[in-house]
Amino acid sequence: MLDVKKIQNVDLDYLTHIISTDEYDEEIFRTADEIRRKYVGDEVYLRAIIEFSNYCSQHCLYCGLRAENKNLTRYRMSVEEIVARAKLIAQMGIKTVVLQSGEDPYYTTEMMCDIIKQIKELDVAITLSIGERTFEEYRIWKELGADRYLMRHETASPELYAKLHPGDTFENRKAHLYEIKRLGYETGAGFMVGLPGQTPYDLALDLAFLKEIDADMIGIGPYIPNPDTPLKDANGGDLKTTLRMVALARIVVPTANIPATTALGSINPYGRQYGLKYGANVIMPNLTPNPYRPNYSLYPGKICLFEKDTACVECTKAMIKSVGLTVGEGFGSRKRIDEIF
Ligand code: SAM
Ligand code: SF4
Ligand code: FES
Repeated sequence: MLDVKKIQNVDLDYLTHIISTDEYDEEIFRTADEIRRKYVGDEVYLRAIIEFSNYCSQHCLYCGLRAENKNLTRYRMSVEEIVARAKLIAQMGIKTVVLQSGEDPYYTTEMMCDIIKQIKELDVAITLSIGERTFEEYRIWKELGADRYLMRHETASPELYAKLHPGDTFENRKAHLYEIKRLGYETGAGFMVGLPGQTPYDLALDLAFLKEIDADMIGIGPYIPNPDTPLKDANGGDLKTTLRMVALARIVVPTANIPATTALGSINPYGRQYGLKYGANVIMPNLTPNPYRPNYSLYPGKICLFEKDTACVECTKAMIKSVGLTVGEGFGSRKRIDEIF
């Protein structure tokens, strides 16, 4: 019998045990689905993502956008192009715009202010996912109306974090996430599954960190090896383990908003549908315009390329209905416990 209390208390020995076997999967998946229904309901929220620049000054060993990758056509969208896309998203009735990019200092504090101000006029929530910036910038953008910030912690193992991020530390990542949280952003953490050298204990640490920071949003996807990176020969994450981690994250932080990620849909044609069945309650249709979209190439096999560049909206809505859930209306901010009971 699955011990849900031990999961919710993040008992590391117990978590390590149930992560390292598929023995408990049926119970884990069923429990996650029940908790999802009880705490966040049947509504699945759409978050439209604009990947507005694939320039990156960072060196993350797993990612196709890393500064060292020369086999990538780089692009930057102008402020006008970004705002025009956000308008289209708002017109399509989607209430969250996610602005994502590599760590690209070309977009100054003021440029981001300009973008945020113009998009806020559209009555949508803004999620920033642009990597680490200064604490002062986080504060200014929050005051201008940015609502949420996604910055996966990537792995909560300090040793693995240091190996994957030359010259950087997990302590530093945590400091950024805690500052973002302190400023009042809905804060998104999360991690990859199947990183080279990652153990079940490391994944247990990831769950413990989600609980420790009380993550408002949790992005979990399989690591997918990219041939243009130093980790090209690694194996990558598998569907079952990734789904197990999504489900466990739901059990550990019952009210979090948890996407069925694009990477999950990229390793299996039904990956996102499974995600929605086993704990996820968010989906992120890709609204990056062409011709840029194929160049936001984090890993091979990324889905939704070459589609009509608004096709993902209808496609994700149909997907939600196909698993018996409903398309959420409104902002879909994180629910507080007192809104539920
Ligand atoms: N630059 C920002 C950052 O790092 O937070 C936002 C963009 S970054 C591309 C978004 C996420 O992509 C990362 O947090 C990482 O988990 C994921 N990612 C990067 N390379 C990946 C890979 N090879 N397989 C799966 N996910 C990957
Ligand atoms: Fe840059 Fe983000 Fe990729 Fe790291 S994960 S190389 S910060 S885009
Ligand atoms: Fe992008 Fe289906 S979600 S085409």
